[in-house]
Amino acid sequence: MKFFVDTAEIDAIAELNDLGMVDGVTTNPSLIMKSGRDIIEVTKEIAALVDGPVSAEVVATEFDGMLAEGRKLAALADNIAVKVPLTWDGLKTCRVLSGEGFMVNVTLCFSANQALVAAKAGATFISPFIGRLDDISLDGMQLIEDIRTIYDNYDFGTEILAASIRSANHVQDCALVGADVITAPPAVIKGLAKHPLTDKGLDAFMADWAKTGQKIL
Ligand code: E4P
Repeated sequence: MKFFVDTAEIDAIAELNDLGMVDGVTTNPSLIMKSGRDIIEVTKEIAALVDGPVSAEVVATEFDGMLAEGRKLAALADNIAVKVPLTWDGLKTCRVLSGEGFMVNVTLCFSANQALVAAKAGATFISPFIGRLDDISLDGMQLIEDIRTIYDNYDFGTEILAASIRSANHVQDCALVGADVITAPPAVIKGLAKHPLTDKGLDAFMADWAKTGQKIL
């Protein structure tokens, strides 16, 4: 399973990238706003830092504007995936951009039928939002499972990029049901290494080691 980092914060991306934890990056208008950076500058910087796909989202809501913005974003670097919302105009944009050889990430997916039409429109990635479904008492992980089944039934090549991930449990469940990619905030990715018994065990080892009076170096 690939790990994408869901942020536009360069330092956080660089730290995880140095550890081999970054197969790609996703951004969205809210994350750009939080970073306080110019979208063009920060997207170029991220794309130069990581080898994998970097999703940059269009903000126009009609086909002509989305297409023009998508082409501009795609031209920033070879590893840009243009992110378009799952609307009819977004799907039209997806179809044209993927026909031109660009990677397209279709975002804001909340149903299996939406994932089905995105695959038919040639999406490279489909981004189902787990956390936002859980927020309204629906089952985000069931959506990932349903899309996995549908894509496998028909051999769709669109990758399932599980998004809106809020916890380590989300990551583990995505791995178990076969999501191709997860995108998660840096804190969630770093949290995957945590376990209370690891901390407790390490404390006990250090206490016993101190009693030996030995040194390794
Ligand atoms: C996905 O690409 C989105 O950027 C993101 O995962 C949304 O997460 P949120 O629902 O926590 O804002």
